[in-house]
Amino acid sequence: MRETRQVSSTPRAASYVILATGVSFWLGSLRRPAMPAHLLNDAIVLKDLIDEPTFHELRALVRTLGADGYALNTNDLKAYTTEHEHIGEAVPMPSDGKCADVFMVPSVNRTHCILPGRIDIGRHYVTTGGIEGLREGAQALTSRALSFGRYMFDLSEQPIVAQLFGSERFLVAARSICPASKPHLAPFQYNFILQVPGQTVPMHVDGVYFWGATRFEFPQWLLAVMHFSGAFRERFVHQVQVVGYLHARYEPSSAGEFLWWGPGGVHRTAPQPRSGTVVDGSRTVHAAATYRPEAGPPPIDKDLETTLVHVGEGRWELRAEDRTVRAYVEDDLRISIVYRAHCFTDADEAAMYHATLPLKPASHARAADGRQPPEPPEGLRRLSLDDVMATLRADLASRNRPMPARLTPYEIAMRLLREYIRYPPPPDAWLPFNYCALGGFMPRLKPALRWVCATV
Ligand SMILES: *[C@@H]1O[C@H](CO)[C@@H](O)[C@H](O)[C@H]1NC(C)=O
Repeated sequence: MRETRQVSSTPRAASYVILATGVSFWLGSLRRPAMPAHLLNDAIVLKDLIDEPTFHELRALVRTLGADGYALNTNDLKAYTTEHEHIGEAVPMPSDGKCADVFMVPSVNRTHCILPGRIDIGRHYVTTGGIEGLREGAQALTSRALSFGRYMFDLSEQPIVAQLFGSERFLVAARSICPASKPHLAPFQYNFILQVPGQTVPMHVDGVYFWGATRFEFPQWLLAVMHFSGAFRERFVHQVQVVGYLHARYEPSSAGEFLWWGPGGVHRTAPQPRSGTVVDGSRTVHAAATYRPEAGPPPIDKDLETTLVHVGEGRWELRAEDRTVRAYVEDDLRISIVYRAHCFTDADEAAMYHATLPLKPASHARAADGRQPPEPPEGLRRLSLDDVMATLRADLASRNRPMPARLTPYEIAMRLLREYIRYPPPPDAWLPFNYCALGGFMPRLKPALRWVCATV
């Protein structure tokens, strides 16, 4: 969607602005505190996580579910409801149905524009260009990050999934990531994730769960901020994520490597079919490199209702508001299954936690013997949005970085993201700054950026 280049008198001045912003950003990133140590942890790689028959059955299931289409992963709120979809930054949807702010997306009911649940991920990805340090406009990068998927909260719903997740090999691997004192696995969700060529999974931590604060109450970016701050650590709930790869076609050089950041720096592993990775994804920053990068950004518009639909015999279509925008064959897709479980001391602690959630996986609603679990201790009870904000303000003040008075909710959100979120700089680029996205914030720079950027 390259627009025609315009010759204009602004390019020279604008290129100074770009250069100056780039240099100051780079200098800023040198001064930036590193990732907190409690967020550097190890992962386990298993070459044969999924056996051949299970692999084929799971692939068949991916197709079956695909008949209804997989939604963009920004739409995960449709799978459940959240008490605070935003912290007050919502603005009414303009009549053209487009959210003008580059960072905003339609709310679930589409009446407002809000910061997406994972703005912490999107903002870092767009400003740095991700693993490869891509130099592209915000729209192109957004289309790369919006993969497809479906969240499922009942693990017994699909027998083949239940069988995989119940196998000894799988459970031993998952338990080995939990703290030794918390060996009891309480699965809470699984999903299939599908990516089309050109897509990536930007650096992120998985949805964080606390005692008294979860995605059922707060935007996920706020939970990430709470986690990075370290101010809620006694409420943190450990978890384990297992990712198994379900694509059949595999070319190591463009398969979208899995990366994670541990105590020794960045680690990488190839997503071989049937293999898997096991990690506490909420305590470990991880990502997938761009899948088939030569394909370029896919034609996805964040403001349109977009689905990836299986239309039969391994043929897939990308649809925007029911219009087909691109066709794919199954070998074009990078497919994975993701399992997530919390780690608890025992079944009683799990039951006590689940009793505090507004939405409980059916299997966890009660303790094993059917008793109503006790209330959690005082310090682990529910937090209100005001409680969370007060703790973060106090934490910032104690760091000598007090939050100014009279900020708008949008400004508060941006401030919190800037102060706390510490995803690492791109490992494969020397400059941790994607100047090509500047046009999204300063449209007047676009003509100059077109000289140096594929998309602006
Ligand atoms: C729609 O969502 C917005 C943002 O969460 C909320 O402010 C608004 O009250 C909702 N409207 C309806 C009718 O549910």
